[in-house]
Amino acid sequence: MRDQFCGQVTEQYLDQSLQVCGWVDRRRDHGGVIFIDLRDHTGIVQVVVEPDNQTAFQIAESARYEYCLRVKGHVRNRPEGQTNEKLNTGKIELVVDEYEVLNPSKALPFMLEENAGETIRLKHRYLDLRREKMQHNIRLRSRLNHTLRALLSEQDFLDIETPILTKATPEGARDFLVPSRLHHGQFYALPQSPQLFKQMLMMSGMDRYYQIARCFRDEDFRADRQPEFTQLDIEMAFVEQEDVLQMAENLIRKTFKRVMDVELPDAFPRMPYAEAMSRYGSDKPDLRIDLELVDVAEAVKHVEFKVFSAPANDTNGRVAVLKVPQGGQKMTRKQIDDYTPFVARYGAKGLAWIKVNDKAQGRDGLQSPIVKFLDDSALEQILAACAAEDGDLLFFGAGNYADVSQYMGALRLQVGEDLDLVKDQWQPLWVVDFPMFEHNADENRWDPLHHPFTAPSSDVENLKSNPGLALSKAYDMVLNGVELGGGSIRIHQQDMQSAVFDLLGIDGEEAEQKFGFLLEALRYGCPPHGGIAFGIDRMAALMCGEDSIRDVIAFPKSASGVCSLTQAPSPIDAQQLSDVHVQVLPKEDEEAE
Ligand code: AMO
Ligand code: AMP
Repeated sequence: MRDQFCGQVTEQYLDQSLQVCGWVDRRRDHGGVIFIDLRDHTGIVQVVVEPDNQTAFQIAESARYEYCLRVKGHVRNRPEGQTNEKLNTGKIELVVDEYEVLNPSKALPFMLEENAGETIRLKHRYLDLRREKMQHNIRLRSRLNHTLRALLSEQDFLDIETPILTKATPEGARDFLVPSRLHHGQFYALPQSPQLFKQMLMMSGMDRYYQIARCFRDEDFRADRQPEFTQLDIEMAFVEQEDVLQMAENLIRKTFKRVMDVELPDAFPRMPYAEAMSRYGSDKPDLRIDLELVDVAEAVKHVEFKVFSAPANDTNGRVAVLKVPQGGQKMTRKQIDDYTPFVARYGAKGLAWIKVNDKAQGRDGLQSPIVKFLDDSALEQILAACAAEDGDLLFFGAGNYADVSQYMGALRLQVGEDLDLVKDQWQPLWVVDFPMFEHNADENRWDPLHHPFTAPSSDVENLKSNPGLALSKAYDMVLNGVELGGGSIRIHQQDMQSAVFDLLGIDGEEAEQKFGFLLEALRYGCPPHGGIAFGIDRMAALMCGEDSIRDVIAFPKSASGVCSLTQAPSPIDAQQLSDVHVQVLPKEDEEAE
């Protein structure tokens, strides 16, 4: 139907006859001459309909926004002064000889170039995707997938599909369930990741596996999470941690070069988890911001101010300072105070601060609601620990280690953004040496920090004697503060796997019932193996400069987990329910009535 794409009709076709197809992006009536900007995925060409071509002119007059057209015409230079340097097609125009409306369009529910609300955009996603930005994002994502596949295939990774209808896989979220019609009262689970299948493929001698895999997790929604999302899932046999890190780092470096023409650093820096928490209050620090946390517990152990001294003397406590260089100059009192409700959202009970006006004057040179609670020695030690200079602002967080880290980490990012301290660069990082377990205080048990198949750095004896201190062979790749991927070396010996299940409080019977097939597989000469999975949605969002992964997914769920386009999830009829032997309970409030 077409000889060329709209955006590619350039002066090389001067005086030639060409047929193009596309949508009406704009239509202008200029005293008898009609101009139409005809658009496809490559750009826009200016179509001119002159009144002496009566048939075409009549049709063109009726054409509206987003009508789908076929146009045959001849290419001529635009009149002097009418050229548009910004457009590939800006020097020419296409004068219509033949003109056909392939399909008219209803008036649009929203303007495609406007910043329309997300609900309406998602409801008419097929229109939203016509926008230049969405075209760019979806095309970049396709290029990304293609590049990853090509690079992995070059290195002898096999692309192997794993089941979608399967058994629960433990990644820590809730499962989506599918009732079985043929097996009364039985359910499949959708995979939270292909984790166990890829491990078994290593046991099968496949050696190197990858898959661009859809994963399903029934979680609460956040901007960087979707209930179904895509991983680049990778596993390798006969490898140690270093092999996986090298492979993954090279893959990402080459991918950024090919897709974005961006050179990532030659070796990604590595940081133990404990250091990341201590310096940045986060396990995915954004290194584009130079601000760091400083621990000052030593300086305030002895003070009367219980808010500080209590956590300072508690092994699970933390007193941390975020120093904002020249923050005292840059921030008004109101701006400083506004960070208190900000950290309160993360559970902080307060946010003490000190403005360093003139160090030389001792305590008189400090402005703060808390100096009165601190003696000279504490103040001196704090200023020294932070290397504070006149003009600096110090924010204090005191309390439980995990809580303080979390809200001071969040404060660091917010202040960085507010003061425009986020550098325009790519900052990758490996976070390594994760703890094996985290303590679940509510249920008084150990939970895996990654998943229960991650190998510890220690042997069975050491692991059992001190699970709280055990580190694991798990690693995360972080880019600009986003957790791009995570993986680990796996447990490949049955006695270690049983020991870990024991510590997690999964007894023999439960382990057998849930993962019996894996435990059994480990008994047949399982090779050492490990791998990683990258979040493709997050990688694409970073590459497109989008805050939300919804903007790089063709048909995402809305923030409330609904597909606005198809209206899923939706009720199903009684017959279908009965076919799969399922009965819907009344809602809890209806029950109460
Ligand atoms: P993990 O759970 O860390 O590891 O997931 C790997 C990566 O997937 C992305 N991701 C998500 N992206 C969008 N929405 C979500 N809800 C979501 N959840 C995770 C993140 C994350 O880094 N089986 C292991 C991998 C392994 O050990 O090899 C796993 O799934 O970018
Ligand atoms: P209060 O004793 O509650 O009046 O608090 C005195 C000062 O300490 C105020 O500036 C509070 O914002 C601050 N503050 C209170 N709790 C904390 C905390 N957990 N961490 C840091 N600062 C706090």
